[in-house]
Formats: sequence, C-alpha cells, structure tokens
Amino acid sequence: MKRPASRAAVVLVVLLVVAQFVPMARTNPPSTRDVRWDSPETRALAERACFDCHSNSTAWPWYSHVAPVSFFVINHVNEGRRRLNFSAWDTPQRATFQDVEKTVTDGDMPIWNYVLMHPLAKLAPDETQRLLNGLRTTFTQDPPVPRKGRTTSQFPVEEAVPSVRTSVASVALF
Ligand code: HEC
Repeated sequence: MKRPASRAAVVLVVLLVVAQFVPMARTNPPSTRDVRWDSPETRALAERACFDCHSNSTAWPWYSHVAPVSFFVINHVNEGRRRLNFSAWDTPQRATFQDVEKTVTDGDMPIWNYVLMHPLAKLAPDETQRLLNGLRTTFTQDPPVPRKGRTTSQFPVEEAVPSVRTSVASVALF
C-alpha cells in the first residue's frame, strides 16, 4: 500500500502538469499611442523600472511560462497595465501622477520581488528622483485621458480598486 506522503506527491505532480495547460495569455499588443516622454532619459529609467508591467513591451521572463508562477506574473502585468500603460496613452489611465509619486516614494513600485529577479530595475535614489521629475513633466505636457465623468486628478486609484494592492502584495512572486 502506498504511503500517504508519496500519494500526495503524485497528486501534486499531476496538478503541476495539468496547470501547465491552463491557457493564460502573455500578450504584447501593439502600442495604440506611446506617451510623449519629456526626455529620452525619463523613458530609459521607466523602461528599466516600469515597462515590464506598465507598457505593452513586456520582456516575459522564462518563469512566466511555468505555472503556477506564470499566473502571478501574467496577473501582475495585466493589473499593472490596467492602471497605467505608457503604450496606450489614448485610453483613460486610472493612475494619476500623484499616484505615481506616492507609490514610487513609498517604495511600493517597482514591486520588490520583481526587483529581486530584475536587479537592473532597482533605481538609485538620484535616479528615482530624476524619474519622478521626468514623469511629472511628462504627465503635465502630455496629460493622460481622464476617465469618463472625472478629471484625472479627481480619480483616486485606491477608491476604485480597494483590495487588489494588498492581495497582490501578499502573493506576489514576480
Ligand atoms: C512587476 C510588475 C510591476 C512593475 C515593474 C511596476 N509596477 Fe506599478 N503596478 C503593478 C501592479 C500589479 C499594480 C496594481 C496593484 C498595486 O497597486 O499594487 C501597479 C500599480 C501601479 C500604480 C497605481 C497606483 C496605486 O496606488 O494603485 C502606479 C502609479 C504604478 N504602479 C506605477 C509604477 C511605476 C512608476 C513603476 C516603475 C518605477 C512601476 N509601477 C513598476 C505592477 C508593476
């Protein structure tokens, strides 16, 4: 008779194999309109630290092809793009510059476990400052389309998506 432990191991392996077949789309749709960056430097800093989740040019890492890690990675990218997508500046953005400033200053963005896997995404304090200054100018010169019925500055992201941040933070692997 099989020991329960080995039976559990078999079940786990079967689940992992089955999970590989769950269809999850890693998309990189074409940009509808890129934000007009105030400078190439701002773009380069954002590319290093933010593009993988806030643009349509995500560099999908190998582990984004392996379930169940892929579920978290793909979810991060989709959620990130839903709030702020530098490649779709012709569609309403949920996040305002104030949200950007707050999350980056608080150290919430880029997400810490992403930085673990992407050391280049870690910005030095002066780089973070230059990114924020550049993004402030970028948002001022090329303001995002406000969401329907509101101006962007009146739209607090937290109000619309109250629980996602904590749930994502607690299970995040990407
Ligand atoms: C690994 C993917 C990832 C990276 C890299 C990343 N973000 Fe995010 N970002 C997310 C996800 C997921 C959310 C939505 C959940 C949340 O708010 O934690 C989000 C939300 C946001 C929001 C919405 C604010 C809010 O209060 O909810 C802003 C603004 C933001 N990110 C800015 C940035 C900036 C700027 C960078 C680069 C410095 C960056 N992010 C890098 C995944 C990422």
